[in-house]
Amino acid sequence: MKFDNTVVVFKYNQTKHLSVITKDQEFVTQNGVINFNDIKSLPSIVKTNKNIEYQVYVPSFDEFILLMKRGPQIIYPKDMGTILIAGNINKYSKILEIGTGSGALTLFLSLLLSSHGELFSLDESRKNQLRAKKTIDRFTSSISFEDKVVDVNYINSKLSEFKFNEIESEIDTIITDVPEPWEFFQLNKINKNIIWVSYLPSISQVEKTVNVLNENNFTNIKVTETLNREWIVNKKILRPKNEMVGHTGFVVSGRYLIS
Ligand SMILES: C[S@@+](CC[C@H](N)C(=O)[O-])C[C@H]1O[C@@H](n2cnc3c(N)ncnc32)[C@H](O)[C@@H]1O
Repeated sequence: MKFDNTVVVFKYNQTKHLSVITKDQEFVTQNGVINFNDIKSLPSIVKTNKNIEYQVYVPSFDEFILLMKRGPQIIYPKDMGTILIAGNINKYSKILEIGTGSGALTLFLSLLLSSHGELFSLDESRKNQLRAKKTIDRFTSSISFEDKVVDVNYINSKLSEFKFNEIESEIDTIITDVPEPWEFFQLNKINKNIIWVSYLPSISQVEKTVNVLNENNFTNIKVTETLNREWIVNKKILRPKNEMVGHTGFVVSGRYLIS
């Protein structure tokens, strides 16, 4: 079957479900059952056995990570743009990610990098890394991404025990999403041109991270947060939505430059 194993969204009005097309099987909705074998093209419309129409399509990245099953809290799509700019990420980047977690950022980075880029992802939890790998494989096994994604090199270690010089590649950006990123400096000293980006929910963590970056001679230290306010725009209403996500995390960035 052409679309077997492809991740899709089934959408009815504003309700979206994530699923994986599986030959000869069915997807159960509150409006009846959809037979996967009825999906002949993507995107398309399929009907349930109660004659209700669902849109079916390959999810965008942010739909996928917001709908997927996850373990630890993910970095939200709105913050990923900020992290990419702060980290000077491009398709050739060699990145060390600290805190694989649910793999949301890992997935996004692996989609962006070309085969000349490299991605290392460290986590003390093997369980989280295995789940993240499964999530990434699920999204990328979809027909749209075949052969286009760089492999992730998983490092299973506590940050406080990690020795940076064991990575042979010339890393140019380190991105952290762990509660105590300063543990990196217990065993390591940066002495080459490198950009540091930390994602941190609490300002007390930000303060400690800025201090440790200063102590380690980082420069261009910057702290930002990204607020996104969605608007309603239709024939009758033109105004911001009442609700918004007020706070996710701060992004702290800095650069070590050889002096
Ligand atoms: C919030 S999650 C990362 C989420 C990830 N950025 C995403 O977008 O899905 C934090 C992860 O860091 C790991 N972690 C926390 N402290 C750590 C430490 N000291 N050393 C290594 N890993 C750590 C946890 O096991 C967890 O999986």
